[in-house]
Amino acid sequence: MTPAMPVTRKIFPDTHPLFLAMAQELRSLVREHRGERPFSIALAGGSTPQRFYEQLVRPPFKEQILWKQVAFYFGDERCVSPDHEDSNYRMAHQALFTHVPEAQVFRMEAEAPDLDASAAAYEALMRQHLIRDQDRAPVFDLVLLGIGNDGHTASLFPQTTALHEQEHWVVANDVPQLNTRRMTLTYPVLNAAQRVWILATGISKRHIIADCLRSHTPQTDAARWPILGVQPSSGNLIWWLDRDAASLLV
Ligand code: 6PG
Repeated sequence: MTPAMPVTRKIFPDTHPLFLAMAQELRSLVREHRGERPFSIALAGGSTPQRFYEQLVRPPFKEQILWKQVAFYFGDERCVSPDHEDSNYRMAHQALFTHVPEAQVFRMEAEAPDLDASAAAYEALMRQHLIRDQDRAPVFDLVLLGIGNDGHTASLFPQTTALHEQEHWVVANDVPQLNTRRMTLTYPVLNAAQRVWILATGISKRHIIADCLRSHTPQTDAARWPILGVQPSSGNLIWWLDRDAASLLV
């Protein structure tokens, strides 16, 4: 399965121009968005995107992005309460949501005791708000993803069962590497998106970025580095990198 659309790499000297360019691009996308439904974004968790979210609520973006036209979802969530320090929702709430109350936010309730039921509930919510064709996966206008040094993205970790999920859009995934369970979107949803942005910064990501972007067989390497399983069928894929993360690329 090769990407139907080109894969673009955008590399910046450091994180400030990187996050500025991403904010400018998002502003344009929301401005150009047409249709009754809001512009839907699945947010990445972890630490890297926090400064991008903070950039979005600084002038001029806070005033210029039509936040009532934006709906925020999540790519994955840890099994903690929404006020826990490890919560992806908490990070996005502090960096972004509190500053733009006009936007709609759909939180993954991963703290629920029955994670499978909570995943099913999130899938039903996506079906209600995002489905375009009864038989196909919901289409996000934008999916933002990070990448771990093991090549995981969202909570699609190497050798975990969620990598093989082709029916459900949201699953509870056992992650033995972290001795935990996570809730995560699956490849059918990620690959149905109109746009996928992969964000990586810092010298610590240089090896995984080089390994993944040098791969000539992404479909077979996806088992080792799950990020390579993200190959939007018709949407476009952009790698947003700072120079440190891209430093081993020729
Ligand atoms: C999460 C994320 C995960 C993250 C990577 C990179 O819940 O942790 O969804 O996929 O994007 O682990 O995390 P950093 O940005 O902290 O390096």
